[in-house]
Amino acid sequence: MRKAVIPGSFDPVTLGHVDVIERAARLFDDVVVAVLANDAKRPLFSIEDRIDMVRASLADQANVSVTSFSGLLADFCTAQGADAVVKGLRSAVDAEVEMQMAHMNRHLSGVETILLSTSAGLSFVSSSLVKEIARMGGDISGLVTAYVQERLRPRDDRAV
Ligand code: PNS
Repeated sequence: MRKAVIPGSFDPVTLGHVDVIERAARLFDDVVVAVLANDAKRPLFSIEDRIDMVRASLADQANVSVTSFSGLLADFCTAQGADAVVKGLRSAVDAEVEMQMAHMNRHLSGVETILLSTSAGLSFVSSSLVKEIARMGGDISGLVTAYVQERLRPRDDRAV
């Protein structure tokens, strides 16, 4: 029984995240999406909303669960009995940052990290760019699910 943890801020979840989660779910028996509950990062969405959007963005995946975590990822992985951390890799810049975290997490708890290259058509997608584009009225279809798109729509745009 192989278990993976996919950590992140998911503020909000993008189609890039969904791609990595779905691919990890085919490689592992059990996948836990762990949403960081850390107000220091000043997220746009509450932890409850971010979890809700991840759940709503995943097609029925029997072996995927979504939860929050705080503190060290290494400690969370130990508590979960996880075999690996899985993360998406979009670019060489990502690789540098992710390699350092992978080494640190392995140093702290022995947990392995598996970096999945994101699908080519999604390698430019990030939560921060999606938020910026949405804020300025740009088109975010194809970057997030319809559910997240609705949540990012400016309030005065919504039907009452
Ligand atoms: O989606 P993000 O914001 O890029 O995800 C970053 C995340 C949550 C994976 C990273 O910040 C993290 O692991 N935070 C938990 C605290 C921790 O363990 N820090 C040391 C990392 S080596």
